[in-house]
Amino acid sequence: MGSDLFYCFSLFLFSIPISFGLCPDGQALLALSKNLVLPSSIKSSWNSSDPNPCDWVGVECDLHFNMVSFNLSQQGVSGKLGPEIGLLRHLQTVDLSNNEIAGSIPSELGNCTHLEYLDFSNNSLTGDIPNVLNFKRLSFLSLFTNALSGTIPASLFQNGHLETVYLNQNKLTGPIPASIGKLSSLKYLWLSENQLSGNVPDSIGNCTKLEELSLFDNQLTGAIPETLNNIKGLSYVDANTNDFQGRIPLSSSSCGQLQMFILSFNRFKGEIPAWLGNCSNLTVFAVVSNQLSGLIPPSISLLENLEILYLSQNSLSGPIPRLEGIIPRELGQLSQSQKLSACLQNYFTVVSYLKGLGINSSLVQIDFTNNNFVGGIPPNLCHGKQLEVLNLGYNLLEGNVPADVGNCSSLRRLILRNNKLSGSLPDFAEDSSLLYMDLRENNLNGPLPPSVGNCVNVTMINLSSNKIKGSVPQEIGKLVNLHVLDLSSNRLYGQLPSQISQCSKLDILNLSF
Ligand SMILES: *[C@@H]1O[C@H](CO)[C@@H](O)[C@H](O)[C@H]1NC(C)=O
Ligand SMILES: *[C@@H]1O[C@H](CO)[C@@H](O)[C@H](O)[C@H]1NC(C)=O
Ligand SMILES: *[C@@H]1O[C@H](CO)[C@@H](O)[C@H](O)[C@H]1NC(C)=O
Ligand SMILES: *[C@@H]1O[C@H](CO)[C@@H](O)[C@H](O)[C@H]1NC(C)=O
Ligand SMILES: *[C@@H]1O[C@H](CO)[C@@H](O)[C@H](O)[C@H]1NC(C)=O
Ligand SMILES: *[C@@H]1O[C@H](CO)[C@@H](O)[C@H](O)[C@H]1NC(C)=O
Ligand SMILES: *[C@@H]1O[C@H](CO)[C@@H](O)[C@H](O)[C@H]1NC(C)=O
Ligand SMILES: *[C@@H]1O[C@H](CO)[C@@H](O)[C@H](O)[C@H]1NC(C)=O
Ligand SMILES: *[C@@H]1O[C@H](CO)[C@@H](O)[C@H](O)[C@H]1NC(C)=O
Ligand SMILES: *[C@@H]1O[C@H](CO)[C@@H](O)[C@H](O)[C@H]1NC(C)=O
Ligand SMILES: *[C@@H]1O[C@H](CO)[C@@H](O)[C@H](O)[C@H]1NC(C)=O
Repeated sequence: MGSDLFYCFSLFLFSIPISFGLCPDGQALLALSKNLVLPSSIKSSWNSSDPNPCDWVGVECDLHFNMVSFNLSQQGVSGKLGPEIGLLRHLQTVDLSNNEIAGSIPSELGNCTHLEYLDFSNNSLTGDIPNVLNFKRLSFLSLFTNALSGTIPASLFQNGHLETVYLNQNKLTGPIPASIGKLSSLKYLWLSENQLSGNVPDSIGNCTKLEELSLFDNQLTGAIPETLNNIKGLSYVDANTNDFQGRIPLSSSSCGQLQMFILSFNRFKGEIPAWLGNCSNLTVFAVVSNQLSGLIPPSISLLENLEILYLSQNSLSGPIPRLEGIIPRELGQLSQSQKLSACLQNYFTVVSYLKGLGINSSLVQIDFTNNNFVGGIPPNLCHGKQLEVLNLGYNLLEGNVPADVGNCSSLRRLILRNNKLSGSLPDFAEDSSLLYMDLRENNLNGPLPPSVGNCVNVTMINLSSNKIKGSVPQEIGKLVNLHVLDLSSNRLYGQLPSQISQCSKLDILNLSF
């Protein structure tokens, strides 16, 4: 109880007509407003003739007229936060998010020892995170989307109440402090989009309540610690775009709640683990551009909620498992163990489901680019009629493009370039949604089917470097959105149909060779 309390309090206990003037909390705010640029609607409510600031916009007080909350979130505030913030000793909540406040965080803030909630997110703050923000009762700390630099002070991670730490989208450097292990209540840890380096400390395994771990876009190295297996409630792990090595982290005992598991653009090695099939809440699994090898484990077929599976740019091999868009009705009724054996028998893999559609759920996106997959394209990738992206480019695939792919009216992007595909092009669906068709550098022969005219929205077709025969069909004139048509290096002959003049958006027409 400081003298400031006495002033604010006494004024109202005895309704003394003479004014003591504005109490210290109010004076501190007025001092703050010299550096903080407030919109006039707020500034006009900050009246120096008031005995206390409790009715001012952005201010809340307790019963003793102590200012406990300072909230100017998204009020168009700019300028700087002055040291006077440290005089507001009773503050429990500070929310200055979504403004344009610049300058650094004053170290005097460390004197607001009652803080429970601190939100400076989405401003233009610069400088270091002061070494004094170790508030005993703080549970919410949000500094994301600023331009804060320097290292994360170890002192920031000292208190067992902290549940939320958002430091993402800054310019922070250096390691993640090992003191992170002291945050026994931590649920949300977002450190993404900084320049953090070094290993993730083993002590993170002591944050057993952790649900969201976001590390993407940093320069973190080493293996992701095995202690993460101590945490049972992880639902989101994103290590995208770092320099992590070692095997894919976690295990079947730690992935039960896991929904998004994103490890793309690192140097993870080894195989895709079979235990992934036990992570039954998984909706997104992405490992683009790593050094993974071996087969896709059949157990992935158990992942009924999986929507997106990105495996491109690895060294995965073997045939693409038979991919089904719908779990066959009969299979849906089997028990889990019967299902597993049925899946293993058929070796079918459910790649991508729309969530929550049960047995009628459907493939949405398949991206297996740039691996060593061999054999044919499975015959019914579009079984669920929901497939939008099929990207199997840069593999060793042989055989025909299945009729099912051509007749897939939901398909928007079809990329099969740089394989060894042969045979004729399939017929295209009457209501085709195709926007992009890249089948270059295969061995496709046969003619260009007139049904290509069904792809009325297509903007780009590259069929270059195949063995396509015959003449260009007049239906090409229906492709009024086409910007690029590259039919070079094929075996076409005859006249170019006059209808091509209807393709009014055409920028590039390549008929060479
Ligand atoms: C400030 O408060 C005084 C006293 O209550 C009042 O006379 C004055 O009009 C107020 N000023 C503004 C700008 O509201
Ligand atoms: C601050 O006020 C805004 C509305 O202006 C509100 O949405 C937000 O929840 C408040 N912040 C806190 C911490 O209560
Ligand atoms: C950031 O704050 C600005 C106002 O300064 C607001 O317009 C914008 O929507 C905020 N951005 C986010 C992501 O909340
Ligand atoms: C906190 O307040 C004390 C006086 O009460 C002062 O000596 C100290 O410098 C202040 N520290 C900060 C970080 O404001
Ligand atoms: C984890 O916490 C335990 C105490 O609960 C402690 O003994 C151990 O050192 C901590 N581990 C790490 C790696 O910090
Ligand atoms: C998936 O999540 C639900 C809801 O949180 C939970 O009840 C279920 O146990 C989880 N599955 C696994 C395998 O843990
Ligand atoms: C999947 O979970 C079951 C039951 O917990 C366990 O017996 C099995 O070994 C796990 N499979 C893998 C591949 O980890
Ligand atoms: C699956 O789709 C079929 C045909 O559209 C429909 O008759 C059936 O009721 C659907 N089943 C479920 C479980 O939604
Ligand atoms: C193409 O798909 C439609 C349904 O989307 C179906 O009615 C039609 O029979 C299919 N055509 C061929 C040739 O498979
Ligand atoms: C073509 O694009 C237009 C505009 O985006 C859309 O309304 C239409 O449904 C599309 N046509 C097909 C067949 O997808
Ligand atoms: C089409 O593919 C060929 C063969 O790879 C390539 O040389 C050409 O640049 C591509 N055309 C366009 C317009 O990108």
